[in-house]
Order: sequence, then C-alpha cells, then structure tokens
Amino acid sequence: MFNNILLAVDGSEHSLNAARKAAELARVLKSSELQVVVVYDPMPPVLGDPDFQIVLNARLEGAQKILQSATEAIGEIPSKVNAEAIAGDPAESIISIAETRKCDLIIMGSRGLGRLAGLLLGSATQKVVSLAPCPVLIVR
Ligand SMILES: Nc1ncnc2c1ncn2[C@@H]1O[C@H](COP(=O)(O)OP(=O)(O)OP(=O)(O)O)[C@@H](O)[C@H]1O
Ligand SMILES: [Mg+2]
Repeated sequence: MFNNILLAVDGSEHSLNAARKAAELARVLKSSELQVVVVYDPMPPVLGDPDFQIVLNARLEGAQKILQSATEAIGEIPSKVNAEAIAGDPAESIISIAETRKCDLIIMGSRGLGRLAGLLLGSATQKVVSLAPCPVLIVR
C-alpha cells in the first residue's frame, strides 16, 4: 500500500509540511517510489512578449529551487525519488501524472502560495481531491 507516492510542492510552508509527511510515510511503509512534482505556468504574462524566453527560464529556475527545498525537507528515505518540474495547470498536471505513473497516493498542502487568506482549501487541492484517481492526503 502507498508504494508509489506523488508529492506536489509549490514552495509554500504547507507543501513543505506535506514533503515531511510524505518522507515519514515512505520511511514507515518502505515505499519504492516517491514522485516529487512542481508545476509551473508555461503561458506568457503578455501574449507575444519578446522577453518570454527569459521569463520562462526564470520560472523553470524557480521550479528547480522549489524541488531542491522539497528534497531537503524529505531527507534520507529508502524510496527512489523522481523530482520533476512540469509545465501546465497545477491540478490537471498532478492528476495526469498520478494516472500515468500509477501513483497510489497523492500528498499535498491544504493551502499554497495563493493570497486569499480566508480560503480553507486552495483551488488546486480542491480540484485534485475531486478528480484524483487515488486517495489524497492533505497536510496543513
Ligand atoms: N504549481 C504547483 N505545483 C505543484 N503543487 C502545487 C502547485 N500549486 C499548488 N500545489 C499543491 O497544492 C497545495 C495547495 O495549493 P493551492 O494552489 O490549492 O492553494 P493556494 O495557492 O493557497 O490557493 P489558490 O492557488 O487557489 O489561490 C500546495 O500546498 C501544493 O501541495
Ligand atoms: Mg496556488
């Protein structure tokens, strides 16, 4: 059970808490794989922006830093860790990876980097919980 876990991180404190929980679970259950995924926005802020390649490179660099902080939060675990930055919509990409890699658990934060303070559950988490092909563990 929970042999191939998908951890979704966006750099928020909630998602780093999710990373620590994912690591604990992977250690206890001796899971064989942990997929760590950060999704970045591939759309230009302004259509036709000539500096778009620079913006895209900066986003990719930001995504790599988020993966690095997640990997540090995870620490030593017995599982094979696949860390990956993916371009797309966060919830759709998380669900699609869970399906194609046959993950049996998704772990994510209750909130992320969004600024709507009143929100109890972020929109990415709400969408994943509604459409996920497997159980979802939401971490505060
Ligand atoms: N771009 C992303 N890549 C990977 N995981 C993400 C991404 N965005 C959100 N998540 C995951 O979803 C969790 C909740 O974030 P979510 O985006 O749903 O909430 P929010 O940012 O507070 O609100 P909203 O985005 O709806 O304004 C995060 O802790 C993280 O685990
Ligand atoms: Mg968000």
